[in-house]
Amino acid sequence: MGVKALILAAGKGTRMKSKYPKVLFDVAGKPMIEYVLNVAETVCNDKSVVVVNPDSYQQIKEHLNKFNVDFAIQESQNGTADAVLAAKTLLNNYNGKILILCGDMPLMTSETLSDFINKVSHDISFISVNANDPSGYGRVVRGADGSVLGIIEEKDANEYEKKITEINTGVYLVEKQELFTRLERINNNNAQKEFYLTDIVKEGCEVYVAKQENEFIGINDRKSLAQASKLLWLKRAYAFMDDGVTIKDPDNFYCDESVMIEPDAEIHPNVVLKGETKIKTGTIVYSGCKIENSIVEKSCIIKENTVITEAFVGEKSQVGPMAHLRPGTVLQRNNKIGNFVEVKKSEIGENSKASHLTYIGDAFIGKNVNIGCGTITCNYDGIKKHQTVIHDNVFVGSDVQFVAPVEIGKSALIAAGSTITKNVPENALAISRSDQKNIENWVLKRKKKINREDL
Ligand code: UD1
Ligand code: CA
Repeated sequence: MGVKALILAAGKGTRMKSKYPKVLFDVAGKPMIEYVLNVAETVCNDKSVVVVNPDSYQQIKEHLNKFNVDFAIQESQNGTADAVLAAKTLLNNYNGKILILCGDMPLMTSETLSDFINKVSHDISFISVNANDPSGYGRVVRGADGSVLGIIEEKDANEYEKKITEINTGVYLVEKQELFTRLERINNNNAQKEFYLTDIVKEGCEVYVAKQENEFIGINDRKSLAQASKLLWLKRAYAFMDDGVTIKDPDNFYCDESVMIEPDAEIHPNVVLKGETKIKTGTIVYSGCKIENSIVEKSCIIKENTVITEAFVGEKSQVGPMAHLRPGTVLQRNNKIGNFVEVKKSEIGENSKASHLTYIGDAFIGKNVNIGCGTITCNYDGIKKHQTVIHDNVFVGSDVQFVAPVEIGKSALIAAGSTITKNVPENALAISRSDQKNIENWVLKRKKKINREDL
């Protein structure tokens, strides 16, 4: 028997106070609706349907282009029951079970949902949970015999009902025919004048009481948005710790789901790891670094406040503090990139160093090269970018400018303070600065002239 997910995402998201669709808000590195679609893909065997409103349809559709889903448009936001009805035509040829999920619940796991799907047998079933703080959720009202009488929304609840801690998670597994039969009979005589999907349970249902309260946090405002991200980051931190990664402060570990960290890597507080990043074994990433879509090989030290984007850091390299590796940077093994060094679209061979205050862009640098403090590759002439090539064993003194395109032969030495505009042959010394002139006693003469012995 098929199970098809129907994901409700047409709500106005009023409580976010935003012009952007709520379900596209980022939760720990990914739009919240993508988490829901991912679990739906895992537990269902039929194409999912997402219900959206006309205003956010295009935006949501573009964001979800990598997912194989159908969209139903709910013309006006008349409530959750109305949202399900908006998908009726799309479901015409489908006969089977429908798993109704909300697009604003990114923490649900496929383990919990598949257990629910496997355990319930009634035509109309839903998941409830006993919440520490039930406020904001629909309360499950049970009769003396324990059977469900209905679900009461907070705005419709009396003082007694508000004290109920068993809440509706908004997750249902329903037989399609029975669902639409019941939906026909729903009215909007309630505080919000909306058609509530919760009303389908009144005519008899089965409840699955889940234990995992946190999985069913619905994101309605910015506070629950932050709370959901925190829970996911913490969960990821614990999973890495179980696998042998040292995470100094799991409460301040900001890591996307797609990141890989090997055992015996060490991550200090306030590190942000994003995208397809891999941190290999033995590497230490100190506080305040942000690493995105990058590979950091074994036994590296990434010092405080370094930003690395779309770059490769070879084994045993040291980067930072406050270094910036931009897209296209490839550092071979045992590099040393120090403070205030920026590298862009450049490859640097093994055992090379740029320890301080340097810009390396569009460059190819060989092995054992020393780049002195304050060196700049002048790669841009205002129209085009040009390459700087520096071969193995070159020594570059401090405060050198390479006006690209320019090529420096093996083992050459570039004198400090030089502006290099022409190629330099192997083993040559290149020096381009005006000769120093010392004027003897110039200071004394000036003092006399202006009559100021105190200077
Ligand atoms: C809903 C439930 C509540 C449950 C809670 C769980 C109802 C009436 N209430 O409340 O019992 O405890 O979820 O998180 O069902 N939506 C539409 N069209 C609409 C209105 C809403 O598609 O016209 C979508 C929203 O985008 C959202 C979901 O339905 O994804 C739930 O709507 P929301 O307004 O967040 O309902 P809650 O107040 O959270
Ligand atoms: Ca909600």
